[in-house]
Amino acid sequence: MCGIVGFSSRSVSACGPLVNGLRRLEYRGYDSAGVALASERDIRVFKRTGKVAELDRLLNAELPENERSTYTLGIAHTRWATHGLPTEVNAHPHVADGGNLALVHNGIIENYAALRAKLEARGCVFVSQTDTEVLAQLVATFDRGDLLSAVSQALKQVEGTYGIAVISRRHPGEMVVARKGSPLVIGVGENATIVASDVSAIVSHTRQVIYLKDGDVARVLPEGVDVFTLDNVPVSREMQEVEWDAGAAEKGGFEHFMLKEIFEQPETLRNTIRGRLDRVDGTSVLAGLNLPPRDLASIRRAVIIGCGTSLHAAMVGKYLFESLADLPTSPEQAAEFRYCNPIIGPSDWAVAVSQSGETADTLAAVRESIGKGALVSAICNVVGSTIAREAGRGVYLHAGPEISVASTKAFTSQVTVLLMMALKLGRTRRLSREEGLRLCEEIGGLPDKVGEVLKENDRIAAIAAKYAEAEDMFFLGRGILYPTALEGALKVKEISYVHAEGYQAAELKHGPIALLGEHTPVVALLNDIPGKEKTIGNVQECRARRAPVVGVVTAGDDDAARHCNDVIVVPRTSAACAPIVTAVALQLFAYHLARIRGCEIDQPRNLAKSVTVE
Ligand code: AGP
Repeated sequence: MCGIVGFSSRSVSACGPLVNGLRRLEYRGYDSAGVALASERDIRVFKRTGKVAELDRLLNAELPENERSTYTLGIAHTRWATHGLPTEVNAHPHVADGGNLALVHNGIIENYAALRAKLEARGCVFVSQTDTEVLAQLVATFDRGDLLSAVSQALKQVEGTYGIAVISRRHPGEMVVARKGSPLVIGVGENATIVASDVSAIVSHTRQVIYLKDGDVARVLPEGVDVFTLDNVPVSREMQEVEWDAGAAEKGGFEHFMLKEIFEQPETLRNTIRGRLDRVDGTSVLAGLNLPPRDLASIRRAVIIGCGTSLHAAMVGKYLFESLADLPTSPEQAAEFRYCNPIIGPSDWAVAVSQSGETADTLAAVRESIGKGALVSAICNVVGSTIAREAGRGVYLHAGPEISVASTKAFTSQVTVLLMMALKLGRTRRLSREEGLRLCEEIGGLPDKVGEVLKENDRIAAIAAKYAEAEDMFFLGRGILYPTALEGALKVKEISYVHAEGYQAAELKHGPIALLGEHTPVVALLNDIPGKEKTIGNVQECRARRAPVVGVVTAGDDDAARHCNDVIVVPRTSAACAPIVTAVALQLFAYHLARIRGCEIDQPRNLAKSVTVE
C-alpha cells in the first residue's frame, strides 16, 4: 500500500520528520517516494523512484540546511503503483494550480478516467498516468479561497477509496486531510501536528492521536486539528493514546506480518473485487485483459502457469474455467512447462500467475508462450513487474504488498481474479445472465465470508495446539478442494517445518494410507459441496487406522462434523468459492502451528519472497 506523512509546525523544519516518517512506512512496500515542502513563499516538490534513501540524497543535494528551516509544512508519500508504472512522473506528490497545490493519495479513484476527461475538456493538462493527479487538478478547480471546502467538493465527485493530504501556497500553514477506505491518523504533538497512514510514522513524535473515520475531512494546523464531514458539519473525534512501539505499529499490532496479512483479507478482497463486477449483465469487468468477447469465445484451451502458491491458484483456476466456461484448462508448473517444449499456439491462452511478477521460471514460461504465438495474460500483484510488463495484458490483484514470505492474501486474491475471469469467459460461452448475476452476488459476498472465518481464529489456534507435536501431516481434498489441500500443506511446511503433504482424497488408499497412525493427523476438507460424501469415506478409512482427523466443515453440517476428532467451521459457499474461505482457515491453522512451535514465521529458513533465479 502507499504511505502518507504530513507535518505542520510553526518552528520545526518539516524536512527531517517527513523523510523519517517515510522510512517508518517502508515496510508497506513501495517503488517511489516524494515530498512537497511549503514555506510562506513557495512549494517545492522532490520525487524519486526507488528507495527513500534516494529521495533523501536528492534533498541533501538540492535543499541546503539553512533553507530547510523555512519549510515547516509538508506532505510526503511512498507509492505502491496501482495506476501507471512506477516512474518519477507518476510518483507523488502530484501538483496542480501551476504548482501552487500539492496532494498525496493512498487508494483507488475508480472514476478517474471520467473525471480526467471532464477536466481535460476544461483545458487541464495532465503529465502523469495516475488517478491521483486527477484528484489534485479537481481540488484546484474548486479552490475559491477555502482549501477545506475545495477538497470536500472535489471528494464528493470521487468514487473509490482515498486517504489524502493537500497543501497549497494560497493557504499558508494549512494542510487538509481526508479519508475514505484508506486509514489516516493525526498525531498532535507539542510543537507540531503529524499526519500518517499509520501510527508507526507518528509514535516517535507523540502518542496522542486521532483516528479519522471514513467520510471525515480535517483542517490541520500546527496547534491542532478540526474535523468535519464533507458537508462541512463539525464532528468530534476523540484523542487516543497509542500503546504500540514503532515496530509493533508496522505490523498493525499483530505479532507477525503473516497474521496481519491473513486478517487483511476481507479488505484486500474488497480491493481485488472493487469496480470489477457488472451487476447489470452478470459478468466481470477486467479492462486490463484487453480481450473482446470474440477473442474470449475463440480460445480453444487455457494453460495457467505458476509456482508454489501461485501454482495452487492456477490449479483452482482449472476447475473454475472448466466448470464455469467449458474451457479445457491445464495448470502447469512453470519450470516443467518452460523445459518440456510445450505444445502451445495461437488458439491457446497462457495465463501466468505470480504475486511478485518476478519469478524466473514463470517469466521464462511467459516468454516461451509468447514465442509460440499463444495469447498471454498475467495475474500479478506488483504493478509494472517484469511478468506483468512482458505479458502485456492481465489483471492486477490490488492486494497491497505481501511482506511475509508465506503467501496468504495473494492466494485468495489470485483465486478471486481467476473466478472473475471464469465468470467473464463463462458469460461469453455458456453462462446465462441470471447465472452470472448469482455468481456476482457470491463473489461480492466473499470479503464478509472470509471475515466469518477469521472469527474462528481462537478455536483454530486451540486445534493447532493439539497437533503441534506432529512431525508428519496429511491434507486431503477432492476436486476443486485438492489444490487447497496442497496450499494448506505448503503453508505448514513453509513456516512450521512439519512434513505436511497435500493429497487427492481418493489417492490416499493407493499408498499413503500406509503411513497413517495415531501420530499422523489428517486435515480433511469436507466442505458441503459435491464429493463430500466420498471424502467422508476417506476420513473413515483414516479413523480406522487411528489417525486423528481435523475436518474443515461447512457451518451447520453436523453429519460431516461427527466423523472428525476436531472441526474447523467455514461458511457455506458454492464449490467455486470454497477454496477461498477454506484457504483462510488453513492459513490460520498453519500460522498457529508455527507460532506454538516457536518458528520464525515471516522469514522462514531457506526461503525467499521472490525466486528470481532458476
Ligand atoms: C508461497 O507461500 C511461497 N512463498 C512460494 O511458493 C511462492 O508462491 C512462489 O515462489 C511463487 O511466487 P510468485 O507468486 O511471486 O511468482
